Amino acid sequence: MSECWTIICTMFLLSCSAYVSSQPFYSATANLATSWINNDADSRSLTYEDNTTIRTILVKGRETIGFSYACGFYCNGNCETYLFAVFMVLTYRNSAIYNPFPRVVWSANRDNPVRIGATLELTPEGDLVLRDVDGTLAWSTGTSGMSVASLNLTKMGNLVLFDKENSTVWQSFDHPTDALVPGQILASGQNLTASASPTNWTRGGLFSLSMTSNGLVASIQADSPQVYYSNLYTNVSQESNYARYENGSLRLYVTGTNNAYASITFPQASSGQYIKLGHDGHLRVLEWRNRSWTEVSDIFSSDLAESNYPMVCGKYGIYTNGQCSCPSSGSSAPNFKQINERHPNLGCLEVIPLTCDDSRNHSFLDIEDATYFRFMVDIERTNLDSCKEACLKNCSCKAIIFQYDIIRPKEKEYPLSGDCYLPSEIFSFMNTDKNDANSFFRGSSVSIKVQIASNVTSPSREISPIKVEREKSILRLVLGSTTGILCVAVVIGLIVFAFTKKKKAEEAEEDYLGRVPGMLTRFSYEELVTATDNFDKKLGEGGFGSVYKGSLKDNTRIAVKCLDGIGHIKKSFLAEVETLGNIHHVNLVRLVGFCADKSHRLLVYEYMCNASLDRWIYNRRQESALDWNCRRKIILDIAKGLAYLHEECRQKIIHLDIKPQNILLDENYNAKIADFGLSKLIDRDQSHVVTAMRGTPGYLAPEWLSAVITEKVDVYSFGVVVLEILCGRKIFDISLPEEDKHLLSLFEKKGEDGQLLDLIDKCCKDMQSNGRKVLEMMQIAAWCLQSNYVSRPSMSMLIKVIEGVEEFAKDLDYNFLNPQYFVNQIQVVEDVTLLSPSFLSGPR
Ligand SMILES: *[C@@H]1O[C@H](CO)[C@@H](O)[C@H](O)[C@H]1NC(C)=O
Ligand SMILES: *[C@@H]1O[C@H](CO)[C@@H](O)[C@H](O)[C@H]1NC(C)=O
Ligand SMILES: *[C@@H]1O[C@H](CO)[C@@H](O)[C@H](O)[C@H]1NC(C)=O
Ligand SMILES: *[C@@H]1O[C@H](CO)[C@@H](O)[C@H](O)[C@H]1NC(C)=O
Ligand SMILES: *[C@@H]1O[C@H](CO)[C@@H](O)[C@H](O)[C@H]1NC(C)=O
Ligand SMILES: *[C@@H]1O[C@H](CO)[C@@H](O)[C@H](O)[C@H]1NC(C)=O
Ligand SMILES: *[C@@H]1O[C@H](CO)[C@@H](O)[C@H](O)[C@H]1NC(C)=O
Ligand SMILES: *[C@@H]1O[C@H](CO)[C@@H](O)[C@H](O)[C@H]1NC(C)=O
Ligand SMILES: *[C@@H]1O[C@H](CO)[C@@H](O)[C@H](O)[C@H]1NC(C)=O
Ligand SMILES: *[C@@H]1O[C@H](CO)[C@@H](O)[C@H](O)[C@H]1NC(C)=O
Ligand SMILES: *[C@@H]1O[C@H](CO)[C@@H](O)[C@H](O)[C@H]1NC(C)=O
Repeated sequence: MSECWTIICTMFLLSCSAYVSSQPFYSATANLATSWINNDADSRSLTYEDNTTIRTILVKGRETIGFSYACGFYCNGNCETYLFAVFMVLTYRNSAIYNPFPRVVWSANRDNPVRIGATLELTPEGDLVLRDVDGTLAWSTGTSGMSVASLNLTKMGNLVLFDKENSTVWQSFDHPTDALVPGQILASGQNLTASASPTNWTRGGLFSLSMTSNGLVASIQADSPQVYYSNLYTNVSQESNYARYENGSLRLYVTGTNNAYASITFPQASSGQYIKLGHDGHLRVLEWRNRSWTEVSDIFSSDLAESNYPMVCGKYGIYTNGQCSCPSSGSSAPNFKQINERHPNLGCLEVIPLTCDDSRNHSFLDIEDATYFRFMVDIERTNLDSCKEACLKNCSCKAIIFQYDIIRPKEKEYPLSGDCYLPSEIFSFMNTDKNDANSFFRGSSVSIKVQIASNVTSPSREISPIKVEREKSILRLVLGSTTGILCVAVVIGLIVFAFTKKKKAEEAEEDYLGRVPGMLTRFSYEELVTATDNFDKKLGEGGFGSVYKGSLKDNTRIAVKCLDGIGHIKKSFLAEVETLGNIHHVNLVRLVGFCADKSHRLLVYEYMCNASLDRWIYNRRQESALDWNCRRKIILDIAKGLAYLHEECRQKIIHLDIKPQNILLDENYNAKIADFGLSKLIDRDQSHVVTAMRGTPGYLAPEWLSAVITEKVDVYSFGVVVLEILCGRKIFDISLPEEDKHLLSLFEKKGEDGQLLDLIDKCCKDMQSNGRKVLEMMQIAAWCLQSNYVSRPSMSMLIKVIEGVEEFAKDLDYNFLNPQYFVNQIQVVEDVTLLSPSFLSGPR
């Protein structure tokens, strides 16, 4: 048994790492005069559960499954704006396998993200140019006229513009962002700059890692950068020093020597790995391990404690034993307040801001036994009072860090003699431990310059805002009216133009649509507007459009699906609708009618009062949890609906998007499949002939890799849905801890450990008490989830097994589970079979 599970596991590892893929066979190179549009309806689009979206342009794949690189448009969940980026992905040959999530290792336009409709162009002159949808230049390599011949993505993840002699004209490695990939060199003068935050990727980040002629230096941006980490060459000063990311270390070299001058070591890469400078100033080595991106090393940690990071407690914050607080004199009127009470680590604000024109009213807030992450000697061998005097005289001085020798630690006497540092910008301070061996010999105190409350309010401040505001509004008025008039004129012109053009097209199509199909009711758009109360109650949103609740004049409740605005609707709409209208099965949602009115395309379905299955199985409430018999019935219903589509229809229909959102429940919890045959109605992809991938990540069978699509892709998705129904959770649940996020991985692990009972929906006692039957059903799911689609059962066979008519074939041939075999299998099949486009679609 355990051996069997190991084999099953290998299979799952493959199938779940391979389960999301785009269409295969991307190239790693592009020629001059090529352009790519960041198009929402593009079949190259892939959106993940967390809304991260990628649109691949080039892929440099590997022969076997492994981490490699792709480049294309990328957005990190908030998809109002996109980057043109190089990302690390798992690949198989020249196609990316889009699980795990891609990791961005370089981007062109992080400060200038672009929107939908933006264009990347490799111009005939050899310039690589990114323009936003309105035509504004977002980024370019500026290589026009430099005899560029091609754009290649190398296997190291370097995006290179080559000339005819194969010499590099431009490469992304020369313009690093915040990450390094194995093999990459950081040359003298180059630097990494951190992002502003984990979600805001602009260069607004404070931290940078620079390679200088003296060595590697990490600093925080300020009027003059403050260094918090350095690894310097001694006795070497050469312009062309460099650091190289090798397997297991970051090494500092001097040009012309083969020996590393210094090595910073970390674990060797066993899979995808990269180094990233975080927004918090940490330099981390990240690796795909245990099925998640894991930090395998924090490179500075051997030199820096947490308190040594400049922003550990934000600006003006004080770090004490892992806690952050604000500087305080203990008086009733505090000088500093927290930026955010709930997040003390965000730092502190001055209650009264320092102003230079009021410098006579400056004073100091003294903090004993405190220091700063950095110390530079600005004034040597002095005492604190002289330092204060110097600081008061210099407006840009914000605080004093005073370090002194403790001669008699027990009885400190002022004035002590020491050195002082007068920084012009303040980040976090830290309390020093009095018992620390270092502070026994050397003491440190901090004096922060503060503004004394003054009753004299500066006249300029009081009056100016109003004045400025008025000037601004006058300016706005003038600007507004001229541009306004221009805009209105242009807009009117455009509308008139578009209207006449559209009208002609509509008239033509209206003629075509005049032929009314038989059985179904044809509704006018106005009728549906009335029926749905002007599309007031939205029931949900599917891949093909939004669905609204409505009721007809005879009070029949309906669900209206608007196909408007989703890609291109085919001319054959009516023919397809007619066919769909002729498909009747108790486990398929019935199409009642449709509307094809001008540009409106709507489908009218019977209303299902218990909504879609996802509302019931992802539900965490006990009282509404479905019991075992109900779940079993639902599984059987889905199987029957699919069997009808696959085997009993006049022409086979592959659904291609089986998921709980597409399974609807009526008042008696009878399950019915929705959205079948729709891919035939809408041609989402006009530019690509064949290989458009359809479906939803998480439910896609691995053979999408090989472009051999049979009805067995539905069987695979069915297996996923069955597992979700039994476990009461999503296939991919980002709210769970990393190791539990992916249900298939977890299924594999629990199977291996013989703990499958743990997976059964905990919200339902009835499910728990039917544990043995649930486990049997899990076996059936595993049967459907096999990587080799040939080995998956047909839907009619599944029905027999679920109903107990037929025995579950326990002596399965497990040979195909060998990963090597799996890989070969794809190659063979791929060479022989061609995907026929009509195969993908609904009936005729
Ligand atoms: C993804 O986007 C959809 C629609 O914009 C939104 O409802 C959903 O909450 C988003 N999911 C996440 C994980 O942000
Ligand atoms: C350029 O490189 C390719 C292989 O990378 C090689 O086949 C070709 O001969 C090279 N061309 C020149 C001019 O060196
Ligand atoms: C770049 O890609 C083109 C097209 O595949 C190839 O012919 C050329 O050799 C590549 N150049 C280099 C230097 O690898
Ligand atoms: C980092 O490099 C960029 C581009 O080379 C340069 O403009 C910037 O000043 C550098 N920053 C630092 C901190 O060295
Ligand atoms: C991202 O950070 C930059 C720099 O800190 C800031 O100017 C910008 O407004 C931020 N963008 C968003 C969307 O928060
Ligand atoms: C430093 O450089 C000088 C002159 O180049 C050389 O004599 C000396 O040995 C070097 N010291 C070390 C520690 O390498
Ligand atoms: C790094 O070295 C280890 C041990 O030699 C090896 O297993 C691994 O494949 C290497 N990784 C890369 C990316 O070369
Ligand atoms: C990965 O899992 C193995 C065993 O499951 C464990 O020993 C190892 O520490 C884990 N590695 C990481 C980086 O979490
Ligand atoms: C004031 O202090 C700043 C840095 O703290 C220093 O660069 C500058 O030279 C000082 N100005 C004077 C007049 O001392
Ligand atoms: C400083 O504050 C005092 C009152 O606290 C005020 O009388 C005086 O004018 C202030 N000095 C300046 C330069 O504003
Ligand atoms: C500031 O003004 C208030 C009344 O407006 C007065 O009570 C207070 O004493 C003044 N403080 C100083 C320092 O002049």
